[in-house]
Amino acid sequence: MISAFSLNTPPHIIFGPGKLTELEHIIGRFGSHPLLVLGSHSFLQTEHYQLVQRIFSKLGCKNETVHIGSEPSPAMIDAIVAKLTGRGIDLVIAIGGGSTLDSGKAISAMLVEKKEVVRFLEGVGDRTPSGRKIPFIAIPTTSGTGSEATSNAVLSSVGREGFKCSLRHDNYIPNLALVDPRLTLSCPPKLTVACSMDCFTQLVEGYLSTNSSSLSEALALEGIRAVRRSLRVVCSDGTDLPARTDLSYGALLSGIVLSNSGLGTVHGFASVIGGFFAIPHGIICGTLMAPANALTLKNLQMKSADHPALAKYANLGRIFSDQPRKTDAWYQDHFIYELQSLAIELNMPNLSEFGVTTGDIEKIVAKTGNKYNPAQLSKVELTDILLSRISTHCPDNK
Ligand SMILES: [Fe+2]
Repeated sequence: MISAFSLNTPPHIIFGPGKLTELEHIIGRFGSHPLLVLGSHSFLQTEHYQLVQRIFSKLGCKNETVHIGSEPSPAMIDAIVAKLTGRGIDLVIAIGGGSTLDSGKAISAMLVEKKEVVRFLEGVGDRTPSGRKIPFIAIPTTSGTGSEATSNAVLSSVGREGFKCSLRHDNYIPNLALVDPRLTLSCPPKLTVACSMDCFTQLVEGYLSTNSSSLSEALALEGIRAVRRSLRVVCSDGTDLPARTDLSYGALLSGIVLSNSGLGTVHGFASVIGGFFAIPHGIICGTLMAPANALTLKNLQMKSADHPALAKYANLGRIFSDQPRKTDAWYQDHFIYELQSLAIELNMPNLSEFGVTTGDIEKIVAKTGNKYNPAQLSKVELTDILLSRISTHCPDNK
């Protein structure tokens, strides 16, 4: 029997190569004075930016623009909101990677809340967001975070007392997710690898989540099949539009899945490590994916032989295998082998390369939660996962 579920998704999704042109028919539904939130200034040189400007001038839209150059911090959002308050902005359109979309999402909310954003962040704030916001359109130029379909914006303050926390409310799901895979064609190779591994991790963790539903699992599997077809292709040839389209599809699905099912231990690590160290989120996911899943699988096999996640691990192995008629255990092991192979093929750096040492393990593990991971890993297991991705030969590790 299908268990009860609910699914929160963007009310409108437009997907497909060339679909950026649809913006012309959409903007008028929301407003006439948009704020354009962009990533790097290089986007200004693209045909996509020219198209957006042509649409604005055709519609007679007066627009403002801000650029987001890094992962957003609460201070960045507060400064932008302070500058724009009272300017009559009635629509926020973010075009960029996950950081840009998250920034647009946070700005659209804070232009209404009119208080410091840190006060609304999960885990560090003292207020619950009302959910009121200015309409928000998300247009991704990478295939990673799935922010175009999520109800949260991740903000970080990196440092000794650093944090990486979410501004979250069901209403923060974008009013429109406009996904045009052509916008991802120019995504640089390293960023493509990191984003692809974030997307893949989100799909796998959402699928395995103890909070998943039949529908979210179906969406996750659909995304995982797209990733299986095309992850290696986009990482070696970023100009392959069908492969880019698969990854854009996978990322969109990963956003829907994570918003509704939650995530697992890898993302538990990522939010903590990302607060202490300036490491790209997708790299943390990509480097921890294989050891975290290997230990989760081992834990389930030893402690809960009838756990439903074991059948899911076998399904994942089947997706990544051309071998028919093997046992569930064979497919489970095959999936872990696939993750390990992928990490090697994609040159996933270990954490030492970003300055993480064995001396940091205790503070990372102390703050890491397993979220909806099918196995609640112990501190010893979490330590083992980190140790496998920190070089003990590094001179810093005394
Ligand atoms: Fe992620």
